[in-house]
Amino acid sequence: MNVDDAINLDDLRKLAKKRLPKVIYDFIEGGADDEKGLTVNENAFGKHPLMPRYMVDISTIDQQTTLFGRTYSHPFGIAPTGGIGNYHWGGDLMLAAAARDANIPFIMSGAATAKMEDMAKIAPDHGWYQLYTAKDKSISEDMIRRAADLGLSTLVITVDVPVSSNRERNRRNGFGRPLRLSLASKLDALRRPYWFKNYMQNGIARMANWEPYVGREVTAEELGEFVAGQIHGVLDWSVIERFRELWPRNMVLKGVMRPDDAIRAADAGIDGLMVSNHGARQLDRAPSPLDVLPAIDAAVGDRMTLMLDGGIRRGSDILTAFCLGAKFIFLGRPTLYGLVAGGQSGATKAVSILQREIELNMAQLGCTEISQLGPDFLFQDPHEPRRNRIG
Ligand SMILES: Cc1cc2nc3c(=O)[nH]c(=O)nc-3n(C[C@H](O)[C@H](O)[C@H](O)COP(=O)(O)O)c2cc1C
Repeated sequence: MNVDDAINLDDLRKLAKKRLPKVIYDFIEGGADDEKGLTVNENAFGKHPLMPRYMVDISTIDQQTTLFGRTYSHPFGIAPTGGIGNYHWGGDLMLAAAARDANIPFIMSGAATAKMEDMAKIAPDHGWYQLYTAKDKSISEDMIRRAADLGLSTLVITVDVPVSSNRERNRRNGFGRPLRLSLASKLDALRRPYWFKNYMQNGIARMANWEPYVGREVTAEELGEFVAGQIHGVLDWSVIERFRELWPRNMVLKGVMRPDDAIRAADAGIDGLMVSNHGARQLDRAPSPLDVLPAIDAAVGDRMTLMLDGGIRRGSDILTAFCLGAKFIFLGRPTLYGLVAGGQSGATKAVSILQREIELNMAQLGCTEISQLGPDFLFQDPHEPRRNRIG
């Protein structure tokens, strides 16, 4: 099978798995502790069957979605993922270009392996920046200034990484930050010639956004160590308020899972939330973002834009999240699978798979515009009278 033959996102995952050494695939795929959260996230969508309405004119189905005043071609975008250059060399900017071409947002990670300045050249209207708070406050503030000077529309602050979580696959594989390959991993990598050739030619990818703050010429490994030492800076509400003062445009908190935190964010003037449990990579016992979405919607849905990520693997998952109150969706792993499987065109393939699934499911639902999605399209089980109701 190659990328052209892939008919769903899981096919892209299988292709990516074949191309990557185990140490890298496991890093992308894995969760924390017992990894129960991965299943919790994916299974949440199936708890809400969708109710088709037939005998509707579906000759025109429009999946364009407006978010923060900009109209995107699809109701989903690409979530921030760190270390991309180590999965596919040059991958950050390939994802940015794929997002630009598909007219969807791309969020550059705070642990990206490309510079935000280069992303802004490639995708000025589609690139957002995600900030990891640094221990040295002046670094975070300078990153915010750089993103603002570049004219990026949206700053995303990730709040759900107060500490590095217990990722046992990584520990067993000897994967650490900064990335170093054990002898066993190098031997395994020899069996993945495409990846290994890149690694031999280019080495470890550099977390380039942090380079200006090291103050001297450093290797990629030294830079990684510098970032590892800076990440997990204090992030309390006073820091959020300070960032709010500094950032002139849309500001989003990623990782909010509680209605009371959502209310506090709205009070602090935050424009949007990404309801997320970091793809089940942080607190393994967290509920799925989909399960907490209705309560957050009830608390702040009229004050802020609610987005969601985690466990989306089908177009129907995206529609389900909209029915429960989401106004936009992001995906982390699936676009990485596409990227690893086939570079920029592999990422584009992931987008087109979702586009098609969304269109077919909208047609089945008798839903011709994304804005029509709501509780009306959810099955109301008579034995569980309020389960699917928002609020
Ligand atoms: C390999 C990998 C790296 C990630 N790196 C980041 C990151 O740097 N910043 C961040 O806010 N979230 C990061 N995430 C979380 C994603 O932004 C997103 O919340 C998650 O992947 C969504 O779940 P999904 O993979 O099931 O779509 C990462 C996820 C993965 C899989």
